[in-house]
Amino acid sequence: MNRPRTTVAALAAGLLAAGTILALSPSAEAASTLGAAAAEKGRYFGTAVSLNRLSDSTYSSILNREFNSVTAENEMKIDALEPQQNQFNFTTADRLITRANEMGAKVRGHTLAWHSQQPEWMRNMSGTALRSAMRNHITQVMTHYKGKIDSWDVVNEAFDDGNGGRRDSNLQRTGNDWIEDAFRTARAADPAAKLCYNDYNTDNWSWAKTQGVYNMVKDFKARGVPIDCVGFQSHFNSGSPYPANYRTTLQNFADLGVDVQITELDIEGSGTAQATTYGNVVKDCLAVTRCNGITVWGIRDTDSWRASGTPLLFDGSGNPKPAYNAVLSALNGGTTPSSPSSPSPSSPSPSSPSPSGPTTPGACSATTSVNAWTGGFVTTVKVTAGSSGLTGWRVAVTLPGGSSVTNTWSASASATSGAVTFSNVSYNGRVAAGQTTEFGFQGTGSAPSGAPTCSAA
Ligand code: G3I
Repeated sequence: MNRPRTTVAALAAGLLAAGTILALSPSAEAASTLGAAAAEKGRYFGTAVSLNRLSDSTYSSILNREFNSVTAENEMKIDALEPQQNQFNFTTADRLITRANEMGAKVRGHTLAWHSQQPEWMRNMSGTALRSAMRNHITQVMTHYKGKIDSWDVVNEAFDDGNGGRRDSNLQRTGNDWIEDAFRTARAADPAAKLCYNDYNTDNWSWAKTQGVYNMVKDFKARGVPIDCVGFQSHFNSGSPYPANYRTTLQNFADLGVDVQITELDIEGSGTAQATTYGNVVKDCLAVTRCNGITVWGIRDTDSWRASGTPLLFDGSGNPKPAYNAVLSALNGGTTPSSPSSPSPSSPSPSSPSPSGPTTPGACSATTSVNAWTGGFVTTVKVTAGSSGLTGWRVAVTLPGGSSVTNTWSASASATSGAVTFSNVSYNGRVAAGQTTEFGFQGTGSAPSGAPTCSAA
């Protein structure tokens, strides 16, 4: 992946190793791509991807450069994966997963149970036959992609727009418990994936639909129905504008004990007004600790399902719009990156002391959260930079005997069992003072129980 920031990081690391005293201007801390800037905040920045656009070199290079999470725009929907009952076609979606792996990107799975985009055989079903077909679809698809998906939209758009109740659909008519049935089936199929409920028009805290979804999630958490995240599609236009209480909505859902993700962001408009709204959405996500990622619903305006509303971050020629600059600046905490190819504004000044004093990279701390089940676990590790910031980090853990690491993301592991050291990858080594980044690993057996040790690299 072309990540120009690594040039600056490598330069800085080399100079530090030589004992040179550095004065890095604030712009040296500003990442120059969306994915890198989000990673520095412990988040991902993703996009919806259409496989048939990957042959377009402009599209493809923006994808590689800017994003570290992908969602299949249509290729993982029910009609695409199970065109005939119990006959699955994973070929197209697999190619997209391969591309994501090559990019080192996370994948959001979209979507397992939905009233729309059902294949004809499913549209004609009802009752217990439909319920078991839904379960079979979830189980087969999640088993095929086990360990490869960060978050799944298990259920999509199940609420009615007007009254805050459930939307009528063939799935709803199988019984009100169809949503929790879907989540329980999903947890059994891939216990490591985050399980999300995803919907639109749930951004305004005062709307009945938002309250309806909130009450369902609250009830699920109270009764132990396995749900890990709520996706806010956030398709904004004049009929469904960005609401002033958006941050309140995200925070109130997060306070129920779920992650929140902005899953299909697009904002119709242009120029400064559009840019300002995009910046506000990003700031809202960054203000909510459990808002762990943003996905825009396409790359260029011409790729959008609402192309005439020019709702995305790049114009039809692939040039970044003011909205792009606003998003990048918000991700960087208000700082504008220097030209990626020119490190001159951050060039070292041997005679100036470092703003924070020390001549070596600052220390760090690491905390873990564990999702464990019989025979396996997923550990998420949050690395927090000390007062000097980091240009690279290592986190050491010790696995119990008989346990081993089977999969690692956003870090590389030195071993699969016993004493394991995880090191940053190219895009998340630089962490500004007090800021965090996240990585994770999945394993068989039991998770490490002792405190991890973090050191600067
Ligand atoms: O690929 C076929 C093409 O062969 C055919 O000639 C043509 C004729 O209609 O259709 C093409 O497929 C279309 C597909 O997009 C690819 O362009 C489908 O008709 C069309 O229905 C489909 O629309 C997608 C829509 O979901 C379907 O529900 C949009 O691309 C996609 O952006 C949109 O995404 C949804 C999310 O999944 C859920 N939230 C809302 C969001 C926007 O509607």
